[in-house]
Amino acid sequence: MPKSITLTALDIGTSSSKLLVGQKELYSPNINILAKEEIPYSVGVRRGEIYDPQKVAENISFLKNKLQKSKGIKIKKVLANISGPHLFTLRSQGLVSVSRADKKISQEDIQRVLQASQSVNLPSNKEILEVLPQEFIVDGQRGIKNPLGLEGIRLEDEVLLICIFSLVLEHLETAILEAGLEIEEEVIPSPLASARAVLSPEQKELGVAVVDIGAGTTSLSVFNEGNLIDFTVFPMGSANITNDIAIGLRTEIATAERIKREFGSFDLSSRKRKTKKGKIKKERIEIPEEGLSFSKISLKNIIESRVSEIFLEVAKDLKRISKKTILPAGVILTGGGASLPGLIKFGKQKFELPCYLAKPEEIPVLEDPAFYTCAGVLLSGFDFQEGKREKIAGEGIKTKFKKIFKIFLP
Ligand SMILES: Nc1ncnc2c1ncn2[C@@H]1O[C@H](COP(=O)(O)OP(=O)(O)OP(=O)(O)O)[C@@H](O)[C@H]1O
Ligand SMILES: [Mg+2]
Repeated sequence: MPKSITLTALDIGTSSSKLLVGQKELYSPNINILAKEEIPYSVGVRRGEIYDPQKVAENISFLKNKLQKSKGIKIKKVLANISGPHLFTLRSQGLVSVSRADKKISQEDIQRVLQASQSVNLPSNKEILEVLPQEFIVDGQRGIKNPLGLEGIRLEDEVLLICIFSLVLEHLETAILEAGLEIEEEVIPSPLASARAVLSPEQKELGVAVVDIGAGTTSLSVFNEGNLIDFTVFPMGSANITNDIAIGLRTEIATAERIKREFGSFDLSSRKRKTKKGKIKKERIEIPEEGLSFSKISLKNIIESRVSEIFLEVAKDLKRISKKTILPAGVILTGGGASLPGLIKFGKQKFELPCYLAKPEEIPVLEDPAFYTCAGVLLSGFDFQEGKREKIAGEGIKTKFKKIFKIFLP
């Protein structure tokens, strides 16, 4: 009998906390979603980072109890992700001499070179969360994905280190522990989780970017030749659009949020409709209960100017990261903020690349892109169980032993 396992993923976002319980027979492609829960508000989180763990713990407890009451599912452990502008990357290199007399590279040599590449001068309040080997170099020969068993004298590596401001990680751990839960496996960087959900291995190989538009953050991650090249988390997202609408239309945040979701769009094909007298008719939106009346075009202008600002930042960084890579698989948009009608066309213009929305293929029942980061966390959890965690971050070698390496950090 194939082994069936059940995992729970928890994504504490700036606007809402989401939870997915999934069941899977290991090594089979199908995932059965046993529960999907959301608290449609958030407390204690700002720009993707937990600043008040106690408040967040209450929300997590609420989700935990809801799950038990409504579905009879009792959870003890959750897979969790981490995000925010304090999640950052560093590039580093390592160099060791091959130790065996026959000059064949061993697992131990690989571990030593990965360890050497983590000897970076990080301030004491920052720590390495993940180590992603980009390539190994054996006696000057570049581009080696797995050097195990190759012959050589000098073993070098190039890695991407994912680092975090320790306090942000501590707050996440505290919030989950205070809610009476434990963290399963390792905390997963959100940009990797989003990418895990919406990208295929072929896209990662070709070259592709993922833009996850959340409420308080927007993240950009770029893949090429199967590896994550780099990512950036920007401290702005779809909540900024809501705030702009609230100011522009002089209304409350909750009303602005409703307006954005119901009427926000880049597609105004009907805006050029002419009146009988030949004047261009501006379609208006009336919300009598709020005493609001405004033209669709004015709403579009508010949204467009904020999205332009966000996409401009992302496009600048995309150029920096991708350099000469052309990204034939284009840009994949995800996150709750990607639901704005017409955003794809707008993205195409701004990024000068093909732009798509994508769904997690292994979990086709999920329709809402706001759940895709959570889906990626769940999928990463199953990857851990199946021993292929590298699926998330490329073809690199699993760096499970990184916790041990922390002791080597200055
Ligand atoms: N249909 C929609 N149209 C426009 N915006 C939407 C729609 N649905 C959701 N959003 C926006 O998406 C955002 C929520 O997305 P998501 O759940 O991915 O963010 P989050 O995870 O809470 O935040 P972050 O990842 O930044 O911490 C909100 O700002 C919300 O207004
Ligand atoms: Mg999010």
